[in-house]
Amino acid sequence: MKNTALTLLAQKQSGEKITMLTAYDYTTAAIMDECGVNAILVGDSLGMVMLGYENTLPVTMEDMIHHTAAVSRGAKTAFVVADMPFLSYQTSVYDAVMNAGRLIKEGRANAVKLEGGAEVCEQISAIVSASIPVVAHLGLTPQSVNVFGGFKVQGKSYDKAKKLIEDSLKIQEAGACAVVLEGIPARLAEIITKKLAIPTIGIGAGNGCDGQVLVYQDMLGLTTGHTPKFARRFADVGTIMKQGITDYIKDTRSGAFPAEEHTYQIDDEIMERILSEEK
Ligand code: KIV
Repeated sequence: MKNTALTLLAQKQSGEKITMLTAYDYTTAAIMDECGVNAILVGDSLGMVMLGYENTLPVTMEDMIHHTAAVSRGAKTAFVVADMPFLSYQTSVYDAVMNAGRLIKEGRANAVKLEGGAEVCEQISAIVSASIPVVAHLGLTPQSVNVFGGFKVQGKSYDKAKKLIEDSLKIQEAGACAVVLEGIPARLAEIITKKLAIPTIGIGAGNGCDGQVLVYQDMLGLTTGHTPKFARRFADVGTIMKQGITDYIKDTRSGAFPAEEHTYQIDDEIMERILSEEK
């Protein structure tokens, strides 16, 4: 059975931690789904980890729909959440509903995610009124990187912490079915988690949240360059990939690949006839 927003809510209520990972393609989504991850986020982080941009700002609706559709085909059980890219919802309520609708109709997502607090509550209510579940995103919201002056932990001052608590209540009131808390102090995330009826899913927000999300390249050792402090490396797939690719190059150059078992045969009689005609 497909997980829904209600599955995640029931997990919060029963105290069963929610597991969410990002994915951007069919194969990875199918593997994660088989492992039993509760939810898959098609994050606009794809701009960085799949497309090589320096931040998420250049990601388009077309990019998101293309990758979301691939993930949706691989996720039989996991709840698929698609990120709304920069300027696909901030510009107007109309844009927000139309673009959220495209992620559902064309990308086959089960929900959309957008960044921000009080300033996007109108958009959240309108999207929810169109029967589309919305996951909110507070704290270190990467689409605001230029306002923050970098990817910096948020909510450390009294005023900023209070604003995050207020925003979390506002997005819940607007109808969000869950909220991602990114890059905020663990004790603040714990307060927000206790205050809210909806699930909180943390990334760099400590273990007091109702669940966790990680960018899969970070947790599988596939990230090139800087890995954030909060991202534990659960496996070193990058090293295994490099070893496999290096072995392929070596064996192909030496002629050891392809071997007999990788090669198709033809009947000797047919071959002799062809050879005699080709002389
Ligand atoms: O885009 C993304 O991958 C995200 C996660 C970091 C939560 O928004």
